[in-house]
Order: sequence, then C-alpha cells, then structure tokens
Amino acid sequence: MARKFFVGGNWKCNGTTEEVKKIIAVLNEGQVPPPDAVEVVVSPPFVFLPLVKSSLKPQFHVAAQNCWVKKGGAFTGEISAEMIVSLDIPWVILGHSERRLLLNESNEFVGDKVAYALGQGLKVIACVGETLEQREAGKTLDVVAAQTKAIAERVSSWENIVLAYEPVWAIGTGKVATPAQAQEVHHELRKWLHDNVSPEVAASTRIIYGGSVSGGNCKELATQPDVDGFLVGGASLKPEFIDIIKSSE
Ligand code: G3H
Repeated sequence: MARKFFVGGNWKCNGTTEEVKKIIAVLNEGQVPPPDAVEVVVSPPFVFLPLVKSSLKPQFHVAAQNCWVKKGGAFTGEISAEMIVSLDIPWVILGHSERRLLLNESNEFVGDKVAYALGQGLKVIACVGETLEQREAGKTLDVVAAQTKAIAERVSSWENIVLAYEPVWAIGTGKVATPAQAQEVHHELRKWLHDNVSPEVAASTRIIYGGSVSGGNCKELATQPDVDGFLVGGASLKPEFIDIIKSSE
C-alpha cells in the first residue's frame, strides 16, 4: 500500500497573532503539490487554532500540540480531546520529547493519551525518539521500541496514527540525523510494527522524521525508503517550509 507523504509543521510555543498571519499568508501563497500527493498538517499553539483553521486553504490541515489524557473537567490549564474535536481540528501531536522530558510524560501516559484521543475521533502524530545519552549507550532501538510498545498496547487500530521519529539530539540543534541514521531507525520501527502489531500496519503506517529538517537537507532524507515525511519545528515558521512540503517531488 502506498503511503502518502506527510509533512507536519510544529510551531511549538511561537508566534503572535501578527506573526501567525504572516505564516498563513506564506502557506496560502505557496506553490505546493496537490493534496493527493502530500498531506500537510500545521500545528499552532492552542490559542491560534481557530484563526489558523479558518484562514488556511482547505488543503492544509491543522493539529493541536497536545491534549489531556481523558475527559475534561477540573484540570486547570489543560485542553481536552473533546474541545479539539469541537473546533473541527482533526489532528493532535502527542508524546513530543519536549513534553516527555520537560513535563515528565511517561511512555504509559503518552500511550493513554494516544488511545483517548483516537477514541474521540482525533488523528494522532505520535512522537518517539532517543536522547543523545541513550544513543551513545547503544539504546536507541530499545528506547523507541518501548515508546512504541506503550502505544501499541493501548490502541486497537493504527489507521489514524502517524509515527514521528524525532531523535532528541537533533531537535532544534542543527544536527540533523544523516539519511542513513534516519532510515535505520525508521526501518527498525517498521520491523517492530511488523513483528508486534501486523504486517499490514507496518506497511501502511507513515513513519516521519523530525529534528533540524530544513529546506537544504529535506530532499535527501525524503529519498529514504522508510522516511514517509517530516515533522518540522523551526523551519515550519519560515518560507522554506514550502520547500520541505515539496521535498518528495
Ligand atoms: O516537532 C518538531 C521537532 O521537535 C523538530 O524541531 O525542526 O526545530 O529541530 P526542529
């Protein structure tokens, strides 16, 4: 089964209303491949979701950057999956390393969030990835397998999940993984899905790469057979994001 190329733009905790309007203008004016060739999903901070959703051309989709692990209620500062659904936002990013590391989100907590969000009808960009220390200790594959396992144990379908491999050492550092490094981990993640979920899920699940992706390095990364797209941070705030969207052409 062909896997449609997927490009996500994670704006993280960036932008004012004026800056967001400028990013929207760049996207709307960009010459990008048609939606049947590439799926593009941008993820602004919560407060800008309605503005971005209503201003972007319909070929671009929108994701929240997080959601609460269960139904809303007395959880000050949290945003529930139901709220995101009620805004007609189809996607959510879960398990980003910045939340795993800075906010101590465990593998199990992330797995619970993924399962709850899927149950509410959201599609999920689920992030996994190792720290530099873990890579240097030779634990990369164990780490990403454990992170993926905690999700697999809690979900019954992978149809609405995109798996994002984001090595922590590559995020925001300018030290992008080499195409061979990315391909190796993506291949192993696909093998893990094959052996532990099903051959069909392994063949159909998109595994995207994130970590210092830029207009300059995206083309070569995109040629790797198990790299099905990107989750872009810093460069998704800049006009070069259009080049990244076009990288599979
Ligand atoms: O979610 C995106 C990743 O954290 C990558 O961020 O492209 O700024 O390295 P970056």
